[in-house]
This record gives sequence, structure tokens and C-alpha cells, in this order.
Amino acid sequence: MSTTTTRTPKTSRTERTAERERGAVTSSYEADREKVLEMLNGALATELVCTLRYRRHHAMAEGLRSRPAAAEFLTHAQQELDHAQTLAHRIVQLGGEPDYSPAGLAERSHADYVAGDSLEEMIRSNLEAERLAVDSYRAMIREIGDGDPTTRRLLEDILAVEEEHADDMAGLLDDA
Ligand SMILES: [Fe+2]
Ligand SMILES: [Fe+2]
Repeated sequence: MSTTTTRTPKTSRTERTAERERGAVTSSYEADREKVLEMLNGALATELVCTLRYRRHHAMAEGLRSRPAAAEFLTHAQQELDHAQTLAHRIVQLGGEPDYSPAGLAERSHADYVAGDSLEEMIRSNLEAERLAVDSYRAMIREIGDGDPTTRRLLEDILAVEEEHADDMAGLLDDA
């Protein structure tokens, strides 16, 4: 019985280590990894600011006895936090580090933190932030193109939720 096995060409220990450390990023990864990581960290900061803004608005709306708005704000706060989590995991998969630092968070975010003095101002600021998020996710998706299908799909899923959020806020504004 022959014990001959077909050997794959040997890679050096350094090459193997480097490949393993890159994890999900293989040689067929066609996007600009650094650029993608930068975009994802910008999106992460945006989601964190949105979660904080919605949490504040939730508490304020409860104080104003605006139950439907308070409930909607809380749901959005949770969904923005889920987005942040998804983005952070993808950043790590791509060999980067998620930036959760509170220092400079507002500057890294695409959307603003608006405290909001009235219910109408809160809803308007959320609507504006959601529309901004929609535009920035669309831009990221265009930028990634076919270079990183997994990240693109992930961003497309988030985009669909941001569009719903914008629609929800437009609806609340009609009722306000
Ligand atoms: Fe989000
Ligand atoms: Fe949103």
C-alpha cells in the first residue's frame, strides 16, 4: 500500500502566522481594508451617538407622558446598539479594533447628538440623524462595491433599518 500523499506547497512559518492573524481577510479580499475599517469605525461612532440620543429622548418623552414616542425612541435606541455591536464584530473580523472611546465620539460620528427641548425638536433631530445615516450607509455601500461582499451585505441590512427609522420619525412628526 502506498503511503504517498500529495503535499501542498509549504508556506513559511511567518507566512502562516501572518495569514492566521489576518483571519477572515484572505488574499482574495479585494477591498482597501484600512479604508473599510475607517468607514466601519465612523459608522460605529454614529450608532453609539444615536443610541445615546434616543435613550435621552426616551426618558424625556416618558416625562412628557408621550407614550408612543417614548416607546419608539426606546426601540430605536436598542436597534442602534445592535448595529454598533454588528459593526464592532465585523471590525474585529477584519483584523481591526472597534473604537468605543468616549473621547472624540461626537467628532467621529456622522450624526449629531441633539438633546431636544420639546418632543417636536426631538423627533425632528432624530429624523435628520436617520436621513444622514441613510446617506452615509449608501455612500459606504457604493464605496465598497464588490470588494467585500460580507461587509456590504451587513451595511445593506443596517441601511434597511435606518430607512425604517426615518419613516417612523416622519410618522411621529405627522402625529405630533
Ligand atoms: Fe443604526
Ligand atoms: Fe437609526
